[in-house]
Amino acid sequence: MAIHHVLALTDVSRPEIDALFELTSLLKQRKVKVSAPLAGKTLGLMFQKPSVRTRLSFEVGMYQLGGQCAYLGPEDIQQGHRESAKDLARVLSRYVNGIAARTFAHQDVVELARWSTVPVINGLSDTHHPCQALADLYTILGHFGSLKSLKIAYLGDGNNVCHSLMHGCALLGAHLTVATPKPFPPQPGIVEEARRAAARAGGALTLTHDPNAAASGAAVLYTDVWVSMGQARTPAQLKAFAPFQLNRALVARADKRHIVMHCLPAHRGEEITDEVMDSPHSMVYDQAENRLHVQKAILLWLLRGAKSR
Ligand code: CP
Ligand code: NVA
Repeated sequence: MAIHHVLALTDVSRPEIDALFELTSLLKQRKVKVSAPLAGKTLGLMFQKPSVRTRLSFEVGMYQLGGQCAYLGPEDIQQGHRESAKDLARVLSRYVNGIAARTFAHQDVVELARWSTVPVINGLSDTHHPCQALADLYTILGHFGSLKSLKIAYLGDGNNVCHSLMHGCALLGAHLTVATPKPFPPQPGIVEEARRAAARAGGALTLTHDPNAAASGAAVLYTDVWVSMGQARTPAQLKAFAPFQLNRALVARADKRHIVMHCLPAHRGEEITDEVMDSPHSMVYDQAENRLHVQKAILLWLLRGAKSR
């Protein structure tokens, strides 16, 4: 049987998302009858970068499902330096039932999945953050009931979080506008993939460099840090991003029932003001909580059938 990996949201179909979110709701409402469905199972966490939400939600999630995690940090792994991806993946597959990896180059997590004989989940790479986007979509659905034709605006850097949101919004038929400064657009190949998926689902993806146009009438305003982990931070870069800050003036252009989203960690005072982050429209902590519920559903989906080690 083929192993199912989750490296980008292109690995997940619309019916799978629907099933995943149904299971997420059961887990969130504590309606899953089996008490320790992942008893005896271990998830290996291979993290090249720091993490709070992703690491903790996998660790707490596995614990709540009756399993456990084993964490390997940057000092332990050194993929490609101390050891090849092939050897790492082959060895880990003998110990654990699944791997969640956080990498710099997306190719690193792809290589792990290529050689692993257990499911690999991308816990953020430089290019994608699929678990985050699934939690975001679940949060938006919980608030608005549907993403079909919903006006969503992402403002800031065309980064990993933006890419996965583009894939996810496309699958669910949303109308997403991505507003970035000219030098920081999303990757063209991913834009094309998302546009094709959006067309199939009756959604749309618009790119702009005008933050005001993107925010106007939006039901969802989403932002992320202007400088991602591993990137250099320059004064010129911060200046280019300044008009994209989620602040009182920009938020005033949105629909009056809008919600504000951020994957966190946030740089308060840069991409988002305290006032907006702490306003009643802000869903940022619900998003963070939903990481746990959605990832528990992903873990059950991928690991339940796995052989105990
Ligand atoms: N949103 C998110 O992935 O947070 P961490 O980097 O803290 O895991
Ligand atoms: N774009 C950010 C997301 C952190 C969750 C980064 O990669 O640092």
